[in-house]
Amino acid sequence: MPAERPAPPSPPQRVTADAPGSAPASGTATGSEAVFVARGVTKVYRMGEVQVHALRGIDLDLYAGELVVMLGASGSGKSTLLNILGGIDVPTEGTVRYRDHELTRADDAALTRYRRDHVGFVFQLYNIIPSLTARENVALVTEIARNPMSPEEALDLVGLRERMDHFPAQLSGGEQQRVAIARAVAKQPEVLLCDEPTGALDVSTGVVVLDVIQRINRELGTTTVIITHNVSIAEMAERVISLSDGRIAEIRHNRTRRPPAEIKW
Ligand SMILES: Nc1ncnc2c1ncn2[C@@H]1O[C@H](COP(=O)(O)OP(=O)(O)O)[C@@H](O)[C@H]1O
Ligand SMILES: [Mg+2]
Repeated sequence: MPAERPAPPSPPQRVTADAPGSAPASGTATGSEAVFVARGVTKVYRMGEVQVHALRGIDLDLYAGELVVMLGASGSGKSTLLNILGGIDVPTEGTVRYRDHELTRADDAALTRYRRDHVGFVFQLYNIIPSLTARENVALVTEIARNPMSPEEALDLVGLRERMDHFPAQLSGGEQQRVAIARAVAKQPEVLLCDEPTGALDVSTGVVVLDVIQRINRELGTTTVIITHNVSIAEMAERVISLSDGRIAEIRHNRTRRPPAEIKW
């Protein structure tokens, strides 16, 4: 893990609004490496007679160490795309590569290894185990990870050093989400994928959670994607990828990023 993030590339080279059929976002001359390369990704869910086109042709590059917000209305395909990047789901057509992992050629065992070794997930509902303390919830992951930090370090990173031996029921929603974040980052993943991480939280609690995610991105250099339907949250991102009806409608680069503490919604 790099201690310091590479200098962010200059905005004009990063800004890419991909017209259909045009060359996708490229990392040339940015100094930052494209770690995810997705091309022509479609996803069709077949439910009996009905077909749902969740993704309709996604071309996207994500760069090492960047913090991206993926924005879009409910049903626009955000979770489907995130799940495909994270190896939870597979596309119907198209290719997705993470570094030297061709995710679209991987079998189930290879996808499991990919998720275990490289990806941390944070979901709207924290999915922590009620009968285990904060420390024990994080230890579930650190016991099987290749290069974990200790549960104590991970909980310290999210500001919960004092609450390590508390059970989820003794913690607020925001604190439970921070336990979930500690669990996701304890294995020192290269990628952190967050699906509506503040969706169940009030504003002030949500801000603390976003602040933790941003600090992890900065301090650990973790390539980070945050899904939200909340336009204000996009202000903390380096790049904002807007999805609409299964397509990328816009990719823009924030010239100035707003720290989570200054975000209101
Ligand atoms: N497992 C599934 N089976 C059938 N349809 C699905 C499934 N997952 C998502 N969809 C549909 O795909 C579309 C995109 O969903 P999703 O990616 O969850 O959007 P978002 O996260 O932006 O709200 C929606 O119409 C949704 O109903
Ligand atoms: Mg979703």
